[in-house]
Amino acid sequence: MPFPADRPRRLRSSQAIRRLVAETHVQPSQLILPMFIGEGLSEPRPIASMPGVVQHTRESARKAYAEAAALGIGGVMLFGVPEHKDATGSGALDPAGILNVALADARAEVGDDLLVMADLCLDEFTDHGHCGVLDAEGRVDNDATLEIYARMGVVQAESGAHVVGPSGMMDGQVGAVRSALDAAGHQDTVILAYAAKYASAFFGPFREAVDSSLTGDRKTYQQDPANAREAVREALLDVAEGADIVMVKPALSYLDLIADVRAAVDVPVAAYNVSGELAMVEAAAANGWIDRDRAIDEVLLSIRRAGADIVLTYWAAEVAARLTR
Ligand code: PBG
Repeated sequence: MPFPADRPRRLRSSQAIRRLVAETHVQPSQLILPMFIGEGLSEPRPIASMPGVVQHTRESARKAYAEAAALGIGGVMLFGVPEHKDATGSGALDPAGILNVALADARAEVGDDLLVMADLCLDEFTDHGHCGVLDAEGRVDNDATLEIYARMGVVQAESGAHVVGPSGMMDGQVGAVRSALDAAGHQDTVILAYAAKYASAFFGPFREAVDSSLTGDRKTYQQDPANAREAVREALLDVAEGADIVMVKPALSYLDLIADVRAAVDVPVAAYNVSGELAMVEAAAANGWIDRDRAIDEVLLSIRRAGADIVLTYWAAEVAARLTR
């Protein structure tokens, strides 16, 4: 046999052949843009630790919804930043609360051309910053929180959400939200479940983005980064409870779990390219240490290649604009 026996380089020898044999693609329709809408803001407010990302006013957000629709991305995932917080996160249930009015604005702007999604969690609305309500001992009370999530899901659907994303990691949250939606006639509202969500340092910049008041951590409800089998268990439970789509979060340090979950379930799998992952790339690029656009493309490709059908990324609009140019 002549040497070399085979020449894999043949399939890398030109842009044309590389394009022909590429196994993985990133399409605008697979990308979801997370957005922050601040209550009572007169101007969009930059988020220092997330370069390029802002807390929107209702007005600036409306423009962004229209742009997202025009770019053909998959959807927008809205987070509300309320002016006032309290122990039970009551702003989350108020139809006039910032997240719910933003959902209504988004639907008024884009109708059914773009999927409007709502983060379904209490942490932006509670004064203690936890994702649920607390019991007399100050522990997060799982079942009391489920009752609030159930009502929150219905309010979000009634405000205009096509998709709700329970992200608080309470046991039984998907089942509780599904039954409440069905009982209120919202059988068609989709549940994108944050199924495997880890207690991660990579959420750091997000806490600034939503003016989080959390002291302490979320280790009694978010998963331990040491554990992989648990991710599959959580995803299977969520599917059994009625999740339409399951998500792994963060993405980059958890690519193995994206692959594990993809193999274990038969519903679409999403992954969240979180705030700390954006911050690392932007900070390195700002120092001239990394080629920003190439790094972003590589990040998104790696998440898709690991098995994510859908990627939530703060770069969604920018990348979609680049892809469709
Ligand atoms: C909870 C929530 C968080 C993120 C999305 N939903 C923060 C947390 O669990 O502390 C993080 C997103 C990111 O870091 O980009 N509502």
